[in-house]
Amino acid sequence: MNGILKKIDDAAKCIEEKFGSGFNVAVILGSGLGKLMDEAQDLKLLDYSDIPGFPMTTAKGHAGQMITGKLGGRRILAMKGRFHYYEGHDISDVILPVRVFRKLGIDTLIATNAAGGINKTFRAGDLMVIRDHISFFAPSPLRGANLDELGQRFPDMTEAYSKRLIQLALQSARDLEIQVREGVYAFLKGPMYETPAEIKALGIMGADAVGMSTVPEVITARHMGMEVLGISCITNMAAGISEEPLNHEEVLTAARRTEKDFSRLIAEIIRRIE
Ligand code: HPA
Repeated sequence: MNGILKKIDDAAKCIEEKFGSGFNVAVILGSGLGKLMDEAQDLKLLDYSDIPGFPMTTAKGHAGQMITGKLGGRRILAMKGRFHYYEGHDISDVILPVRVFRKLGIDTLIATNAAGGINKTFRAGDLMVIRDHISFFAPSPLRGANLDELGQRFPDMTEAYSKRLIQLALQSARDLEIQVREGVYAFLKGPMYETPAEIKALGIMGADAVGMSTVPEVITARHMGMEVLGISCITNMAAGISEEPLNHEEVLTAARRTEKDFSRLIAEIIRRIE
C-alpha cells in the first residue's frame, strides 16, 4: 500500500477506536479560536502525539488535540490546533488530518483561521466568510503522484468554498445579529508577516485578508470532493494598512476577544447544515 494511504488508514483507525464513527462535520479551529467545543456534549479528547503519523504542533496558541463531541445535534470532529507549513512540516503532513477526516466518512469541512485585514473597510475583530482564495506563492499539497483513490489529478477549484455553505453562514450571522464580512483570503507561507509592498500587491490582486494556513487543507478537501466553509477572524490590519508593527500576542488576544461570537456563529451553522 502507498505510504501516504497507509498513514491515513492508521490515523483514521486510531481515531475510530477512541471516538467511534459517524461524524457529520469536521472543524479546524485556528489560532485563539479553540473554545468552540467547550459547549459540546459527550466530549472526548485525543492528543495528536497519540495519533500515529501525526506531527507535533509547535505554534503558540495552538493546542494539539483532536476533539469529538455533540454540537447542535451533530457529531463534530474538531482539531484544536493545526499543522502549518511554516513550522517545517512537510506539506503532506500539513494536510494529513483532512485526508483522515475524509477516510472517516466526513464530507463537510469548516476551516477557521486568524488573518490580517487588507480590505480597508475591515476592522480588527471582524469575522470574514471566505468567498475564495489566492495561493500563487505557496506549495501545492497535491504535488507529486496523484492518489487516484482520493481524487483526480486536476481537481476543479471553481467552487473551493461552497456557495451553499456561504449563504448558510451569512444567513446564520444575520439571524444571530453578528456582523460578518465576505472576502478573498490570500495564503502566504510565513512565518514572517508580510511587507507593506506585499500587502499592497495582494490588495491589487483582489485579496481582502491574508494568513498562513487553511488553503492547503481546503485544496485537499476539494480534491476529495468535500464541501468546504472557511471563516477568518480578522485579528489585525495587515502591514502598511496599519502603521503599527505586528506581533503574535496581539493576534491571539484579538482572536480570543471574538471567540464568543465566533463560537456562536459556527455552532449555529453546524445546527443548520444538512
Ligand atoms: N498576516 C499573516 N497572517 C496573519 C496575520 C497577518 O497580518 N494576522 C493573523 N495571521
